[in-house]
Parts: sequence; C-alpha cells; structure tokens
Amino acid sequence: MNNFSFYNPTKIIFGKGEIAKLDTLIPKTAKILLIYGSGSIKKNGVYQQVIAALGKRKVTEFAGIEPNPFYETCLDAVKVIKQKKIDFLLPVGGGSVIDATKFIAAANFYEGKDCWEIMSKQSEIKEALPFGSVLTLPATGSEMNKGAVITKSDTKEKLAFHSDKVFPIFSILDPETTYSLPKRQVTNGIIDTFVHVMEQYCAYSVRNQISDRFAESILQTLVEEGSKVIKNPTDYDIKANLMWAATMALNGLIACGQPEDWATHMIGHELTAFYDLDHGVTLSIVLPGLLRVMKKDKLDKLAQMATRVFGINEGSRGERADKAILAIERFFRTVGAPTHLSDVNLDASCIEPIVERMEKRGWKLGEKGNITPAKVREILQNRL
Ligand code: NZQ
Ligand code: ZN
Repeated sequence: MNNFSFYNPTKIIFGKGEIAKLDTLIPKTAKILLIYGSGSIKKNGVYQQVIAALGKRKVTEFAGIEPNPFYETCLDAVKVIKQKKIDFLLPVGGGSVIDATKFIAAANFYEGKDCWEIMSKQSEIKEALPFGSVLTLPATGSEMNKGAVITKSDTKEKLAFHSDKVFPIFSILDPETTYSLPKRQVTNGIIDTFVHVMEQYCAYSVRNQISDRFAESILQTLVEEGSKVIKNPTDYDIKANLMWAATMALNGLIACGQPEDWATHMIGHELTAFYDLDHGVTLSIVLPGLLRVMKKDKLDKLAQMATRVFGINEGSRGERADKAILAIERFFRTVGAPTHLSDVNLDASCIEPIVERMEKRGWKLGEKGNITPAKVREILQNRL
C-alpha cells in the first residue's frame, strides 16, 4: 500500500426533506449569493425549498452557470460579489454549478494579474469565500471534494484546479431532487461515478485490500442499481444508493494508498473542450479503448475486477481481463451510454487536434506516465 494523507472536512446531510436544514447551517446574518444553472431548480421545486429555508436572510441570485462552466461567466459572478458585499456562496445544482462556485470563491481573492492563472499555472489559493451546496445531480463528487473543472471559451481549454480552501463546508443530498433528471443526465452520472472509481482502482496492485474492496463495492452497486434506475427513475432507494455512490467515488477515500490513472478524464476533457460533448459521454467512449490499449499494465486489476465485480471466474488472467472490458462496455450500453466516437457523429478527424495539444503540453498520462500522445492516438483510434 502506498503512503497517503486523507483530509475531508465537508459535512454531508443526506435524505429527503433535508434542504430545510439550510436554516441551521448558514449564519442568520450571511449575505448569500445563490448560484444556479439554467433553471431546472425552479421547475422541480428545489429553488422554492431553498428560498423557504433561507427565510429572511439577504439573498442575491446568480443564474446561468453553463454545463462545463465558463470562466467568463464565473468572472461576472465575482463582480456581483464585490458589488453586493457577499460573504457566503450557495450553489444549487450539479457538478458544473458547484465547480463554478469553487472557482468564484477562489477568484474573489486572487491577487495575480489574471484569474485564469488559477487553472493554467495552478497558482496557490490563499483564501476563498465559504460555501455550502445543495446537490441535484449525482455524478462528479464535487459536493465533497476540493476539485473543480472550468472552461475558457475563447481558447477552448478545459482545465482543473484543486485546493483545500474550496471544500464545501456542507452539502445537502436529497435523492428526491434527482427525480426530475432527464435520462441522459442519469446515465452521465452513472458513467462518471463508474469511471471515477476506475481511475483510482484500475492501475496496478499495491495489495491495498481496503481501498480495492471499497472501490469494488461502489462498482457492484452501480452495476446493480444502474441497470434498474432507467426503468424506475423515482425509486427512492435506487436513487439514494446512486447518489451516495457518486459522492463516495470521489471524496478522496477510495484513493487512499492507491496509484491513480486519470488519463480517461484528461482525454475526455479535450473531447468536451473541442467538440462540446457531455463529460459522461466522453468517459464511456474513452475508457474501453484505454483499457484495451493499456491492458498489459492493468492486467491484475482487470482480472480481479472480472471475478469480484462481474462474477467471471473462468479463464486465464488475460482472458478474464478481456471479459471484464467487454462486461464494462456492455454495462455502459445497458444504461444508454455511447461507447464509440461514431455514436456521437465524430470521425477520425477529431483525433489529431487532441494529440497535438497533448504533444504541445508535453503530457504523459496514466499511473506510470506512459500514456504518451501516440498512445492517446491509439486509444481514440480504437473508438472509431
Ligand atoms: O443548468 P441546470 O438547470 O442546473 O440543469 C442541469 C444541466 O443542464 C441539469 N440538471 C441538474 N440537476 C437536475 C438537472 N435537470 C433536471 N433535474 C435535476 N435535478 O443537468 C445538466 C447537466 O448539469 P451539470 O452540472 O453540467 O452536470 P454534472 O453534474 O455531470 O457536472 C459536469 C461538470 O463537472 C465536471 C465536469 O468536467 C463537468 O464540467 N467534473 C467535476 C469534477 C469535480 N469537481 O471533482 C470531477 C468530474 O470528473 C468532472 O470533471
Ligand atoms: Zn468525472
């Protein structure tokens, strides 16, 4: 097992009706910026619950955070914060709204020339505004982690930053808020959760039984509940399991002591930046290709996963690894996710801009740093 440190200060409040607890979680004197997206929270009643819980507190609203949130929009929010002397942020929505809030919270105090340096130079965050979130889309884990992914629209760059200063103080997770999700977003959430686990589990073995078995329990839950949710979108316990799975998949716990990959995400971010695909869609396309191309490096874990997650006991390690990759691809299709670039109307011409960008940045991805730009090309060619 590798050395690790684990820190997570976010308080989770989970269950139906819990949005009312905002009243006890936010100081009465807070000047709040309520941050949300394109308005789904007004149609499903979440906005109304939030406003009722906030009572007489001073609330300013900032709507219009996009999926794959734009840096430029975040800067508009910073202006509002300064004008209105806001001292607490409350994102209500999915990963994009929470990620945007993390960037806004940090950008508000950034002293450098250009806030984009937080992403491009990974500048240190010295201070950030406090915030708590209300989650409506289980997928990213942003509600209980310190990462955020922001897009610069003019240069089509999608980059991540991490800082202990941007953990949410609290996050409220009410599975009933997810009943209104379109099928496409339910699918995206299952895929994102699955791939988060794979990035932290499917590298090479360091005999880390605890983290391995935590990861396998999440994968098993996704396979079982994910297959049911499409037909039962308002089954409380299915939704509750998927919601908690998404949070547990990326709050730092299952990464403890493990080597991590993250190449599927890095390639996926480029597909989103260039071709505007949903985050989940990029992952269900890239992962099976990456596992095939990098099979030798991941053989032990794939074979272990075949047996422990998919109940495949027959065959050599290599054969079980192949069967695990097929089972993953089959599961992705069962939940309605695309697995090839052609499924989203992309052809071979989409590959070179991504490879060129990786070459320029000098990126070598994966747990061993051996996913070179040439390997990225091979992975994407496998997905045509
Ligand atoms: O705009 P609104 O009205 O909020 O509608 C959203 C949006 O159109 C809608 N939606 C959310 N909750 C709903 C709902 N519609 C009906 N009912 C509800 N209850 O769903 C659409 C997608 O929302 P979005 O927040 O974009 O999705 P998601 O949660 O998948 O977030 C994706 C973003 O998170 C980043 C991704 O790269 C992407 O930018 N990620 C963040 C991570 C992190 N912070 O740790 C890790 C992830 O790997 C990921 O990269
Ligand atoms: Zn993700």
